[in-house]
Amino acid sequence: MTSIDGGAPLEKLPIVILISGRGSNMLAIAERAASGALPVEVRAVISDKAEAAGLASAAALNIPTRSLSPREFADRASYDQALAALLESFQPQLVVLAGFMRILSPGFIATFADRILNIHPSLLPLYRGLHTHRRALEARDSLHGCSVHFVTEELDGGPLVIQAQVKVRPDDSESSLSARVQQQEHSIYSQAIDWFARGRLQLREQRAWLDDRPLEAPVIHAASD
Ligand code: GAR
Repeated sequence: MTSIDGGAPLEKLPIVILISGRGSNMLAIAERAASGALPVEVRAVISDKAEAAGLASAAALNIPTRSLSPREFADRASYDQALAALLESFQPQLVVLAGFMRILSPGFIATFADRILNIHPSLLPLYRGLHTHRRALEARDSLHGCSVHFVTEELDGGPLVIQAQVKVRPDDSESSLSARVQQQEHSIYSQAIDWFARGRLQLREQRAWLDDRPLEAPVIHAASD
């Protein structure tokens, strides 16, 4: 239990974070949780890759870690079933996809219906899928960014919650642009999780609701430079 601003004690929401790589979003969330800034308890960090660097970072924060390799399973459905069972053993009320680079099957999504969030490195619906920074540069976009959305069966297509815009600079490379987008990812993902943990954000009737109103459009963090 934690008390915010001396107000009523708030239960911490149990979450599990899924990663495939570096885990910078996972770390940003876990560090905010550890400091009490985010009212969640990170019950576990799970990866589809045993070598994911984020697993060691999570372990260093004393968060239980697991890896489950798809190579040990015959097909996507059986992997996703095992992944869902592993997740359920931690009883999360929210599943946080943070650079988890696998498409989840309908069965998995149904198991955690209405309580899976994802972060995607583009201003959705632009640039679903991979290589979003390269595609934004190739298209000479002046504005790029990132999005948090609820996960539904449509790939990178679930209801949007919040987006941060990032101005593209004339001399940007894929890596310089991605670094600035990632900074914004850490901030908007924590914001969305905070809303969810406080019961302010839900997925209802296939739409994102914030403070009891359906979002007609995502909350936008405008680019500042
Ligand atoms: C993040 O940029 C996230 O938006 C992206 O993977 C990166 C993971 O970085 N996710 C996707 O592309 C999902 N479609 P991280 O491991 O440092 O958090």
